[in-house]
Amino acid sequence: MSTQDAHELKLYSPPEAAVKGAHVSGMEAYKKLEAEAEADYQGYWARLAREFLTWKQPFTKVLNESDAPFFKWFEDGKLNVSYNCLDRNVERGLGDKTAIIFETDDGKVSRVSYKELLSRTSQLANALKAQGVKKGDRVVIYMPMSVEGVVAMQACARIGATHSVVFGGFSAQSLRDRIEDAGAVMVITADEQMRGGKALPLKSIVDEALSLGGCDSIRNVIVYQRTGGKVAWNSAHDKWLHEVVASQPATCEPEWVEAEHPLFLLYTSGSTGKPKGVQHATGGYLLHAALTTKWTFDLKDDDVFWCTADIGWVTGHTYITYGPLALGGTEVVFEGIPTYPDAGRFWKMIQDHKVTIFYTAPTAIRSLIKAAETNPAVHPKNYDLSSLRLLGSVGEPINPAAWEWYHQNIGGGRCPIVDTWWQTETGGHMITPLPGATPLVPGSCTLPFPGITAAIVDETGHDVPNGQGGILVVKKPWPSMIRTIWGDPERFKKSYYPPELKGYYLAGDGASRDAERGYFTITGRIDDVLNVSGHRMGTMEIESALVSCTELVAEAAVVGRPDETTGEAICAFVVLKRPRPTGEEARKIAAELRNWVAKEIGPIAKPKDIRFGDNLPKTRSGKIMRRLLRSIAKGEQITQDTSTLENPAILDQLAQTN
Ligand code: WT7
Repeated sequence: MSTQDAHELKLYSPPEAAVKGAHVSGMEAYKKLEAEAEADYQGYWARLAREFLTWKQPFTKVLNESDAPFFKWFEDGKLNVSYNCLDRNVERGLGDKTAIIFETDDGKVSRVSYKELLSRTSQLANALKAQGVKKGDRVVIYMPMSVEGVVAMQACARIGATHSVVFGGFSAQSLRDRIEDAGAVMVITADEQMRGGKALPLKSIVDEALSLGGCDSIRNVIVYQRTGGKVAWNSAHDKWLHEVVASQPATCEPEWVEAEHPLFLLYTSGSTGKPKGVQHATGGYLLHAALTTKWTFDLKDDDVFWCTADIGWVTGHTYITYGPLALGGTEVVFEGIPTYPDAGRFWKMIQDHKVTIFYTAPTAIRSLIKAAETNPAVHPKNYDLSSLRLLGSVGEPINPAAWEWYHQNIGGGRCPIVDTWWQTETGGHMITPLPGATPLVPGSCTLPFPGITAAIVDETGHDVPNGQGGILVVKKPWPSMIRTIWGDPERFKKSYYPPELKGYYLAGDGASRDAERGYFTITGRIDDVLNVSGHRMGTMEIESALVSCTELVAEAAVVGRPDETTGEAICAFVVLKRPRPTGEEARKIAAELRNWVAKEIGPIAKPKDIRFGDNLPKTRSGKIMRRLLRSIAKGEQITQDTSTLENPAILDQLAQTN
């Protein structure tokens, strides 16, 4: 793999087959939509909200900016998300159409029709009500990738409960923190989850989380029996899912909620403090989920769509649970991992299910490239991938070499790649090619989605000319934007609407636009947030986890460094309460600390690299010089000015690996 020189970057015009019949066909169509939004911003979104969503009570107000930045969209309208995703499709005659093709970790396949998904959702919705869950209550979902996981989310939406899905890889401590912050009344979980042939004990992690205290708001724990593995049982609040739904009717009148009613909270990392509960509203979010699924993925009735994300992340919310179902699409839901039983799993599943649209993360692509290079048996050329017509990428920048490989080896050179830039906070795609319209440049997410006012500015909020880098912002509010941080409106304002940016939304990424086309390239986070394998993590969070190991750790600083496969890797510099260890002892303590972080946050937060020092590089006023640590982590020679450093000798020490 070689990284391409920026000057050699090729332009890929949309192939004829992608242009023909596309929902947005040709660049003129894209420009027309942009012009419509520019001429009448609210009129544009109102038109789409009427076209894409079914309202119980139509809205008359579009955007309310009176309490900026707490924007409200379609506020006097009423609707229900689960009605829009399920009942509406059954009413349109799609009852027998397959909504979900589910494949388990060990390769068992089942299909669920829209009719069936509706009745299962209704039954669970009734069961939740019977357990006392009411509109506005928060329900934490800690589930494996499963039909039941999707049903749990839809059932919450059906009764107006606000779900907060916690990724199954998070630790008991992280789960506890989220339950407490959300004040959840219920946890829906499974006995175990199967990943890569291994059973992971979800229920016992829930038990542990509840035993850590602070979860008094929880009244019930509903357990989906996935494996039948042994679980501890607390009959005061544990209930089997199959038992609570058994006696429930298969119809349930949806709770018609206001458009601004919180559909979900999803916790994500920021540069400071604990993870924040990003709050999304019902109407605006569902509009953008449906709209982007239709235009970015050009979803048609006969497509088989597969988004490989987990429902624990926003990608799984928008492009598994909500977007494709709102459009009556057919999608694949996969329980397992890309490397089990071997690294050909994704390609085999595309072949078996005749997937037409495939959406995954660069980190997965890069690791599968490596796997194909070392083991020819799992090379994609061994599989029939001819059903594919469109590919997508999300979560982190895709390097041009990985893009080219994906394009050639998975897309057979004929499938456009939509490199979609967005965030938990944005609800759906913000900057992305439209496959039937936008010429592609590998490594660039190209142009804003029609109606999204993405721009690049300097620290004072002034536009930066194309060809220069700057701060990525969104100038106008948009329907699927974050509404607030749960329980912390001040933090919401401070994080996303700093006063110097003139009321623009601050994304937290750096970006540039090329001089010729105005195409965006994301250069990465400008705050202390890391992106490891497409997972977002705050350096402060990992530092807090390390120093909470009070027996061992005196001080810790965490930085990211570029990594070929995972995009970024976590590098921790640690000062112990005992003399600086070397050799075998250092390796042993490093392993201990890695496990500690896994226990505190989850395995995804384990530092790849841990270095020990007698101290950290600090200025005379005691500030840790992170830019130096970043250079050391990269293995660079220190060329920066170190004259303000209290203790320059420490740099050599920290440069030594264990
Ligand atoms: C951060 C958001 C978007 C859903 C999954 C991640 C990075 C995301 C891209 C892309 C370059 C990207 C950004 C962003 N990011 N997509 N196509 N190109 N960078 O959601 O966990 O909220 O993370 O992921 O840095 O700010 P998230």
